[in-house]
Amino acid sequence: MARHLITSAIPYINGIKHLGNLVGSQLPADLYARYLRGRGNEVLFLCATDEHGTPAELAAAKAGKPVDEYCAEMWAVQDALAKGFNLSFDHYGRSSSEQNKKLTQHFAAVLADNGLIEERMETQMYSHADGRYLPDRYIEGTCPNCGFESARGDQCDNCTKQLDPVDLIDPRSTISGSTDLEMRDTKHLYLLQSKLKDDIDQWIDSQTGWPVLTTSIAKKWLHDGDGLQDRGITRDLDWGVPVMRGEEPWPGMEGKVFYVWFDAPIEYIACSQEWSDATGGDWARWWRTDRGADDVRYTQFMGKDNVPFHTLSFPATIIGSGEPWKRVDYLKSFNYLNYDGGQFSTSRGRGVFMDQALEILPADYWRWWLLSRAPETSDSEFTWDQFQTDCNKDLADVLGNFVSRVTKFCRSKFSEDVPEGGEWGDAETTLINDLQTRLTAYQTAMDNIEIRKAAAELRAMWAAGNEYLQAAAPWSVFKTDPDQAAAQIRLALNLIRIYAVLSAPFIPTASAKLLSAMNTMDMDWPTDMAQAVRALPAGHAFTVPENLFDKISDEQRDDWAERFAGTRD
Ligand code: 2FM
Ligand code: ZN
Repeated sequence: MARHLITSAIPYINGIKHLGNLVGSQLPADLYARYLRGRGNEVLFLCATDEHGTPAELAAAKAGKPVDEYCAEMWAVQDALAKGFNLSFDHYGRSSSEQNKKLTQHFAAVLADNGLIEERMETQMYSHADGRYLPDRYIEGTCPNCGFESARGDQCDNCTKQLDPVDLIDPRSTISGSTDLEMRDTKHLYLLQSKLKDDIDQWIDSQTGWPVLTTSIAKKWLHDGDGLQDRGITRDLDWGVPVMRGEEPWPGMEGKVFYVWFDAPIEYIACSQEWSDATGGDWARWWRTDRGADDVRYTQFMGKDNVPFHTLSFPATIIGSGEPWKRVDYLKSFNYLNYDGGQFSTSRGRGVFMDQALEILPADYWRWWLLSRAPETSDSEFTWDQFQTDCNKDLADVLGNFVSRVTKFCRSKFSEDVPEGGEWGDAETTLINDLQTRLTAYQTAMDNIEIRKAAAELRAMWAAGNEYLQAAAPWSVFKTDPDQAAAQIRLALNLIRIYAVLSAPFIPTASAKLLSAMNTMDMDWPTDMAQAVRALPAGHAFTVPENLFDKISDEQRDDWAERFAGTRD
């Protein structure tokens, strides 16, 4: 049994996430966590809210609440939605936790002790109209690298270059739109990433099999232009982790906080400490290579815009510390999911948000569609037409219909027990062999986190059952040879349990319903199909489940398309 540490990029606290955010990290991370658990591995799956920085401050001000209160409330909202989507985090933490504060201050201290932090005087944008310094993403302007006109102060969304606000050409405040900006002198801490360039470069080179999307972005920022740049890790803000050198004050840095992107990834570690404190678990076993974490395989999930921070900035923090921290083994990054001919947008409220999605359909519909169309190799697009077609076909016509036909037929012709009698012949052997081959392909895809491929294999296994049933036609066979029909149905009922186990990572609610209908707790992975198709023996009682998936009607589709065409209030 292997040990797997899995983290999903931690979503910003300000506001409910849309389906594009969900499919870019939390959902695929959950799929992988569930799959690995299903195969008997020990898994620690962590996520948290990313609570610091200006966005949280401004959202709280807009809501008319103190920022800590706002964050606590929004954490509860996000936590409830995560549960609604069946995201199986072992802990859903908060980057504003005491654990993260301590650990962030600790990292800053050891980095300083190692000569990797420098105090630098810099000029910072101060907005007279807004009465505050304008950090990061609250300044927009033209990207000096690619010329994109809406580049943010922390990063250009067009070319992914990490930026400092002062790099922007023609800057303006995104809060007020004001261009009445003044550069003021202010002292900040810089992490000397340039000194760590070779270490990071070697580390990335030593990783095999990372997605091209991941390594190409990392390599670009290591080698293009002047190479890896030193990075300001403090900000003039009220809300955040106070700048301290460990537990000591940091002279000259009073009233400043660490930059949100410095403390956010540290929360991956702090979250495991929160989990330990809450459950009595041993976080160090997962994170410290001197405490057994060498045996852990660590996989991170994130959208492509997060890749530079995870391949360069966070590694710089942990490598620079010189301490034995576990490093990521595999970094799975995603392209963007678009919405009906445009982009999902939190700021403009465009698209379907997690709360809205659950209001109209159970989580499994969304999970299946989003995962089976995950934006892995290129951006992908949500359209209501495609969503309706895929859900109706895959979930209702293929899986749901199979279950319904088999269980209802058995109840009406035999009983609500797995029927006995008859023998399996060539058709059954062919099906079992086919399923065995597809299972291997499914496992390979899941092991490699090739989500669309895995979904296609799973769908093919569902379809194989349907095709078998269609060809075997137990409803006709029953008239002349009830024993043979019994054998066919016995196999088909066993397939329902197998489907429940294999489908659980994608559609956990439906899977639980199937297991309960099959009256079994046997979640054993069907490694050997020939054996797995015998798990439910003749005489085993079951019940006919309620309809698993209702079809999405044209009327519903049109209603929803209209309802979600604009922006949310
Ligand atoms: O892009 C985002 O949503 C960030 N809040 C992700 C942070 S991931 C990590 F570094 F903590
Ligand atoms: Zn750019």
